[in-house]
Amino acid sequence: MSQLADKWVLITGASSGFGAATALGFAKQKSKLLLGARRLDKLQATANAALQAGAGEAHVHVLDVSKTASVETFVAWAREKIGPSAMLDVLINNAGGALGLDTVATGKDDDWETMLQTNVLGVLRMTRAALPLMLKNPGSTIINIGSLAGRVPYEGGAVYCAAKAGERKITQSLRLELNGTGIRVSSVDPGLAETEFSVVRFKGDEERAKKVYQGTIPLVADDVAEAILWVASRPPHVNIDEILIKPTDQAAIHKTYRRLK
Ligand SMILES: NC(=O)c1ccc[n+]([C@@H]2O[C@H](COP(=O)([O-])OP(=O)(O)OC[C@H]3O[C@@H](n4cnc5c(N)ncnc54)[C@H](OP(=O)(O)O)[C@@H]3O)[C@@H](O)[C@H]2O)c1
Repeated sequence: MSQLADKWVLITGASSGFGAATALGFAKQKSKLLLGARRLDKLQATANAALQAGAGEAHVHVLDVSKTASVETFVAWAREKIGPSAMLDVLINNAGGALGLDTVATGKDDDWETMLQTNVLGVLRMTRAALPLMLKNPGSTIINIGSLAGRVPYEGGAVYCAAKAGERKITQSLRLELNGTGIRVSSVDPGLAETEFSVVRFKGDEERAKKVYQGTIPLVADDVAEAILWVASRPPHVNIDEILIKPTDQAAIHKTYRRLK
């Protein structure tokens, strides 16, 4: 039996992309899933697919990580689902994304605030709320989803890069703060991956989103999900601090091979 069987796994942003693929990955290991995001219909579709794939349980609840009240309601619901005799085993802070590619000179307050609210404050809020469900559970794991953008800046990415650099520092601080508890803290940092990420970034402009991946072979959500599952399934004394995972075509943030005619 898989060591992830019957483990309680909470995933934010499980309605699409990495979050949905990760939910399916844990489902195949017979984990019990607590899934959150804002779009309940998509979240429910993930849960249905997870149950089909073998999840021990799969529950959904609306979650907006940019709002403290929503996070607290969600975690209170998760606590009830887990029950008094069990604890949370894996917390995956995945919800997030980018908005626009504006330079600092032309950036919009709303975009900046949303990026910082979800990618930075969302991780902090979720972790603060969920930690009481993990503190007496050595071997449990917090996995934050960072980005290549948190390590290397690019033009038009100032706020998203800052947000993911923030995620990186939160992950590193948390690992220090939790030292001695047995809780592992990791960051999985993908490069170019084709999900709904670019459609969201370009506010529904699918043509513009497609161009991001044109002529190149990007990561897909399952590639990142596999890395997340691997991190969560190491023995309890092993902490994978960070994983940088890029497509072979992406040698660096400014050097992506494209088969253009
Ligand atoms: N794709 C890439 O190239 C790439 C590379 C590196 C890192 N990342 C990071 O990976 C994570 C997942 O992105 P993805 O590529 O899988 O993109 P995606 O397909 O757009 O998924 C993003 C997920 O986050 C959720 N979300 C967004 N804002 C939220 C909020 N305020 N509250 C709760 N959930 C929220 C979305 O659900 P709802 O809209 O239903 O709320 C969705 O489930 C993000 O943190 C992203 O920054 C992506």
